[in-house]
Amino acid sequence: MCGIIAISSDKQVAAALLAALKQLEYRGYDSAGLATLEKNKIHTARAQGKLAALEQKLKTRAPPGSTGIGHTRWATHGRPSEQNAHPVIAEVGGKSENAVAVVHNGIIENHAKLKQELARQNLAFHTDTDTEVIAQLTSLNLAAGLPPLEAVTETLKRLEGAFALAFLFSRDDTVIGARRGSPLAVGQSDNTLALGSDVLALAPIARQIAYLEEGDIVVLSGDTPRLFNAAGENIQPQWKAISPSSLQIGKGQYQHFMQKEIYEQPAVVGETLDSFLDPARLRASFPEFPFDTGSLRKVLLSACGTAYYATVAAQYWIEGVAGLPCSAEIASELRYRDPALGGTDLAVFVSQSGETMDTLEAARMVARAGVSRLAVVNQGESTLARECEMSLLTRAGAEIGVASTKAFTTQLALLGCFALELARAGGVSDERLRAYGSALMELPSRLYEALTLDERVSAIAADISRARHALYLGRGAMYPLALEGALKLKEISYIHAEGYPGGEMKHGPLALVDDEMPVIVLAPSGPLFGKIASNAEEVMARGGRVLLISDAEGLASFGGEPEWVLEMPSCDVFVQPILYALPVQLLAYYAACHRGTDVDQPRNLAKSVTVE
Ligand code: G6P
Repeated sequence: MCGIIAISSDKQVAAALLAALKQLEYRGYDSAGLATLEKNKIHTARAQGKLAALEQKLKTRAPPGSTGIGHTRWATHGRPSEQNAHPVIAEVGGKSENAVAVVHNGIIENHAKLKQELARQNLAFHTDTDTEVIAQLTSLNLAAGLPPLEAVTETLKRLEGAFALAFLFSRDDTVIGARRGSPLAVGQSDNTLALGSDVLALAPIARQIAYLEEGDIVVLSGDTPRLFNAAGENIQPQWKAISPSSLQIGKGQYQHFMQKEIYEQPAVVGETLDSFLDPARLRASFPEFPFDTGSLRKVLLSACGTAYYATVAAQYWIEGVAGLPCSAEIASELRYRDPALGGTDLAVFVSQSGETMDTLEAARMVARAGVSRLAVVNQGESTLARECEMSLLTRAGAEIGVASTKAFTTQLALLGCFALELARAGGVSDERLRAYGSALMELPSRLYEALTLDERVSAIAADISRARHALYLGRGAMYPLALEGALKLKEISYIHAEGYPGGEMKHGPLALVDDEMPVIVLAPSGPLFGKIASNAEEVMARGGRVLLISDAEGLASFGGEPEWVLEMPSCDVFVQPILYALPVQLLAYYAACHRGTDVDQPRNLAKSVTVE
């Protein structure tokens, strides 16, 4: 979603702002722009569409100045257009000393009311954005004689909703940043101060960064940033050095980030297991929990998107292996429900970014019910990680493709270990635990083997890419994988797809079966193989086109002749949901490649959904 950058340095900044915006591209956006300050004049450049369009404009006229702000916009209020692109400028009374430029990530929920109020003061609006009220209010405050910091502080008091903001002023070589609800970090290196939505944007500019806390305001001017907390007190930034790994975000030999990230899975799943599994004892190994795992009565798992499907798979493990009642809930639904929760329950929130607004709000709602919260995140400094009583880090590294792949499998690996920890605390025998632990230990090798199916999957995907609809079937812990497979296909190839539990076919989806719609059946050998195999047979008996994804044992015992088969490596039933993520990811990836879509930045989607 919207990305923010601001730089104050001793050199011309337009090129550096553009370079930082490129680092933020992965978040998803539909227009972009920047504003710079030179001799008390704000210069802007904005363009609809990809950054290439903005870059083109900068070639003919790069806005001058050594201080500036930049933005990639993911439209919420007002369609994507040059007019609605940020920075949004206001200049009350047409007086240049009142001019202010604003970039914003988030939603101002009371913007309509504020707009009416400002319109009554004869202020003209030039965009359809909610952001413009912020610029107008601030300009009004400047016109009333307030200096920039007070003008911003007064504006913020009027805003409802979530935001990260950066302001640039014509009267003063100062940038002000503010955070409430959406992430923002400040960075610094020699002669340069900067603000950015994430570490990726700041990595090329800053040597150290500090994340703003809720309600913080930061002023960039002079040699060091001045930081104020929600109470207006001057506080010290908690600087952290930027690790070299945060700079490693190239595609390397791969065509797309998504492809690279699919291929990284054996390594990053291995690293995640290294953190949470003791190889000698084949037992889960966690830092001390701030709650008693042995006396938990119920586990509530919650997340959005692909992370939600990881929680659905984990639900099977926590119930099946640890024997604890467990439910997986979509965070955007959970936050508006009134779930029956008690002090002996644990809520686990799973999020790659740790910044997904609905997940954060669900976690805050659960906190009000007095329930212990555990965050499973890929960003250790994220808001979710900082707000929950405990956070555990998946070791996926930077995930750039909007469609999540390695974050999903590392979440599963971590949640698998966590299920074993709960099982141990619940008295499950060492022998059983060792069997599960050993299945997890072998998983990275199985993932490597599964990647050798690449070419075969690409060939099948060429056929499937011509379909308009597709169905994914699974049973048991393969059902969430069917959901994830369908999500992957629709989000990057734009083929409509649905995931279904195989047993539900007779209750509706069988009516869809024809000789055009591929039905992808996730059917590893195991206790439910006979059931899902029958579902595949029923599809084929009605002229349906089946892709059967199974292992040697499953394929040998399957009676019919599916149109396509994929033979997966064999593995323990416990880790099947992790292993079977690979073929569904590869299938979606190659289907998208065959269709020529924008694999890493699918239309209308954002990597981190920081608004509701
Ligand atoms: C967006 C992304 C998905 C991701 C979901 C949840 O929809 O495109 O890839 O699974 O958000 O994100 P989170 O950061 O909370 O895991």
